[in-house]
Amino acid sequence: STARFTLDPAFTIGTVDPRLFGSFVEHLGRCVYTGIFEPDHPSADEAGLRTDVLELVRELGVTVIRYPGGNFVSGYKWEDSVGPVEDRPRRLDLAWRTTEPNRFGLSEYIAFLRKIGPRAEPMMAVNLGTRGVAEAIELQEYANHPSGTALSDLRAEHGDKDPFGIRLWCLGNEMDGPWQTGHKTAGEYGRIAAETARAMRQIDKDVELVACGSSGQGMDTFAAWESTVLQETYDLVDFISLHAYYEEHDGDRDSFLASAVDMESFIENVVATCDHVGARLKSKKRINLSFDEWNVWYMTRTDAEVSALDWPEAPRLLEDVYSVTDAVVLGSLLIALLRHADRVTVACLAQLVNVIAPIMTEPDGPAWRQTTFFPFAQAARYGRGEVLDVRVDSPTYDTARHGTADLLHATAVRADDGTVTVFAVNRGQTESLPLEVALNGLELTSVTEHSVLADADPDARNTRTDPGRVAPHAATGTVLDGGTLRATLEPLSWNVIRLG
Ligand code: AHR
Repeated sequence: STARFTLDPAFTIGTVDPRLFGSFVEHLGRCVYTGIFEPDHPSADEAGLRTDVLELVRELGVTVIRYPGGNFVSGYKWEDSVGPVEDRPRRLDLAWRTTEPNRFGLSEYIAFLRKIGPRAEPMMAVNLGTRGVAEAIELQEYANHPSGTALSDLRAEHGDKDPFGIRLWCLGNEMDGPWQTGHKTAGEYGRIAAETARAMRQIDKDVELVACGSSGQGMDTFAAWESTVLQETYDLVDFISLHAYYEEHDGDRDSFLASAVDMESFIENVVATCDHVGARLKSKKRINLSFDEWNVWYMTRTDAEVSALDWPEAPRLLEDVYSVTDAVVLGSLLIALLRHADRVTVACLAQLVNVIAPIMTEPDGPAWRQTTFFPFAQAARYGRGEVLDVRVDSPTYDTARHGTADLLHATAVRADDGTVTVFAVNRGQTESLPLEVALNGLELTSVTEHSVLADADPDARNTRTDPGRVAPHAATGTVLDGGTLRATLEPLSWNVIRLG
């Protein structure tokens, strides 16, 4: 049967913050070294950045880029990562059992962002695992203070006269996780986050601060953690973070395809918790959500990979090679974020290059797009404007993990020029899904494009030897007539339908 919904410009969710299309660069595996930075690569520029990767990052359309971790940040000494490269120490990275050479550091990260272009903004995490308030404000002074103090003058001496202007800061990373170096209880973390936030605001009242929420909805402490942390930090922070990764378990593809059901409930539960704390505190302030790690990640394979390491430099780690199915799920996760754009105003696809990433590289070799590159790039490009309130009337199917789920997952975004883009996923593995969209009060006359990511082989992947195997194609038969859009969504597909 047919899936249906109505679009009406009078019913909206909110305006998309461009920072919804962020990503993440961690000192992990080959994300930095031989990913974005490889001075001996034929495409490297004078700063050692791979220009082939820079081009793909621009095409991907990412906005904020979170750095330097991740679990890595809980052992991070920012001082090691600045100044003359030959003087920088090599350190053990406890999080990933590797050796960090510090050849790429804070200044190189800022140079990388500036080369991507004006829409790339920093999002810097401070270490609240093994360090605290003092180191956070020293880093802030080094990075942002114009001049005339020891640390700001040191930055200039290091070659960066202009301040870095880092506005968005994460107060630690996944501090609820027992795996985190310096892991804390909610009470302990709430206090250090509050004190760090207070001190950072003494330097600059306009910084934007993200408190750590739970590293997953499945954590035993979920929701109680957010409640305790926000009780301490409500007036001092702007965001609470969410992290979620999804993978196919034991061949249960039906459940995997419905992963966004979990993501949407996670978002709604965190919104409820934030607003509950706000109500208790009688506050008019609203805390927004920073979904600063999300992706498909075959995490069940990672523990063994990491524990086998004997402190190598930039090993191959978390290099998931994504299928068409993974890309459709990632598209559905993007739809989930857009559907909550009123409260989720920052989000970071974890990560950017090589490590669970849309872009892959070979050292001294090529760079290419994974299947997951395409839905992200399309959403980042066309998911700008007002999100329309989409309530689907869809046939359903049963899943073991997420109960009964709609076969159609969809959202729509109206740009400033009045054009509308529908993003839709057909979760059904075998049947096409007819779609009808009634357009109320929208001056739209034609279908500009219907792009589909689907394949006769849902396990198809792009690899070094076949980097162009998977790419979106044009759908046929999509029409707009008499105020109704009619399309057929291929089985297991991600669809972008642009209306003008
Ligand atoms: O993105 C990979 C890891 O996942 C990050 O380092 C950590 O924050 C999360 O557990």
